[in-house]
Amino acid sequence: MTTSSRDGFSTAFGVLVATLGSAVGLGNIWKFPSLTGANGGAGFLLVYLIATLLVGLPVMIAETMLGRAARANAVSTFERVAPAAQHGWKIIGWMGFLAALLILAFYSEVAGWVYAYIFKAIAGDIATTDPQVAGAIFAGLVADPLASLFWQWLVLGITGSIIMLGVAKGIEAVARRLMPLLFILLLILCARSLSLPGAAAGLAFLFSPDLAKITPAVLLTALGLAFFKLSIGMGCMLTYGSYFRADQNIPLTATRVMLADLSVSLLAGIAIFPAVFAFGFEPAAGPSLVFMTIPAVFTAMPGGTLFMTIFFLLTAIASVGAMLSLLEVPVAILSERYRLGRRRASLYTIVLVAVLGMPAALSSSLTADLRLFGLNPFELFDFLSSNLLLPLGGILICLFVGWVYGLPETARQLGNHGALRNSWLVRAVFFLVRFVAPLSIAAVLLHGLKLF
Ligand code: PFF
Repeated sequence: MTTSSRDGFSTAFGVLVATLGSAVGLGNIWKFPSLTGANGGAGFLLVYLIATLLVGLPVMIAETMLGRAARANAVSTFERVAPAAQHGWKIIGWMGFLAALLILAFYSEVAGWVYAYIFKAIAGDIATTDPQVAGAIFAGLVADPLASLFWQWLVLGITGSIIMLGVAKGIEAVARRLMPLLFILLLILCARSLSLPGAAAGLAFLFSPDLAKITPAVLLTALGLAFFKLSIGMGCMLTYGSYFRADQNIPLTATRVMLADLSVSLLAGIAIFPAVFAFGFEPAAGPSLVFMTIPAVFTAMPGGTLFMTIFFLLTAIASVGAMLSLLEVPVAILSERYRLGRRRASLYTIVLVAVLGMPAALSSSLTADLRLFGLNPFELFDFLSSNLLLPLGGILICLFVGWVYGLPETARQLGNHGALRNSWLVRAVFFLVRFVAPLSIAAVLLHGLKLF
C-alpha cells in the first residue's frame, strides 16, 4: 500500500461535507430528540453541549490528526505513529472495528424504519395526530420480523453498493449533493412546527434546564451521545483523517463540522418538541418518538403528505452519509491489512453486519426476550457501543496523543508543518486531550456504570 496511490477526498469542500456527512445522521434526527426527551430536556442538552466542547471537539481533532499523519486505516495507523515497541495501541483500531459493526447492526434497522416510513407517508398510512394510533402503527412495523429484516437488508444493500465505489467517487460524491439539501428541508420543517399552537411549551422543554434531572446515568448518556454524534472514539475519524488533504486545517474543519452538526440537532429538536407538546405526545417515548410525532406535525397541515415524505426522505439521506463512514472503518481495515480489494472487503463487512443486525432487527419480535443486563439486543448494542466502547476508545486516543505522541509532533501536524499560525490553539487542544478529556471521560464512565 503506497501513500500516493491511496484513494482520498479530492477537494477541501469535499473533506468538509464528507466529514459532516459522517457526523450528521440518525444521531441528530432520531437519537438526539429521543434521548433529550427521555432524560428531561434542557438539562441533558446542557451537559451534552459541555461534553461536546470539552471532550468531543478535542478528541475529534486529535483523532483526525493521527489518521492524516499515518494515512492508513484505524488499526495500521498505530503501527505507523506509535514507537516500535508500542504497537499495542492498535487495540484502539480493533475496538473501533467492533464498535462499527455493533452500531451498524442497530443503525441499519432504524434507517430501515425510516425507509419504510417514506412509503407509509406517500400512501397516507401515517396521517394521524392521535398518539395512540401513531404508537400502534410504529409497534406494528417493528413487531413484524419479515418487514424488519427486509428494510434492514435494503438499507445495507444500498449503502453497500455506494461504499464499493470508493472514497472520492462514492462517499464524497454523495455527500456533496445531499448535505445542502438536508439543511434546507430542516429549516422548512422548523418553520412549520414553530407555527403550531402551543409550540412554546416544546421550546421551554428544550431550552430551560432543570438541573435536578442530571444524574450520573444522564451524564454518561450525554457523553456517549457526544461521541456518537461526532463519530469519534472508534476509528472513524482516524479513517476519514487519512483521506484528508495535506493542507486541510484540521482544528478549523473539526470546529465547523461540530457547529454544523449541533445546528442540525437543534433544528431537529425545534421541529419535534413543539409538536410533542401541541398534540399531547410523551417526550420520553424513546426510539419511537420521531416516528410518532413527525407525522402528527404534518397531518393537519395543507400539503402534509408531501412534507412528511420529504422529512423521512431527508432522514434517509442523512443516514446514508453516516452509514458510509461507519462501513468505511472495517472496509479500510479489511482491504488494506488483508489485501482483499475494496469490493470483497465491502461485501464481507455487509455480511457481518447483516448477521449481527438480525438479533437487533428482531428485538421487538423474536428476540425480545433475549435480554442481557435487562436490555434487548438492539438496546444492548447501542449501550455497548455508545456508552462503553466509544468513551473507552476516546480515553485511549487521548492517552496516546497526550502522553506518547506528545506536544511537538501534535503542533507540527496541526500546524501543517509550520504553514498555520495556531500554536496557542494547539496548546489548548493538547491540554484538553492530555488532562481534561481523559479524566472527565473516566469519571463519567465509572460513575455512570456505578463503579464508584
Ligand atoms: N455520527 C452519526 C450520527 O450521529 O448519526 C453516527 C456515527 C457515524 C457514529 C460514524 C459513529 C461513527 F463512526
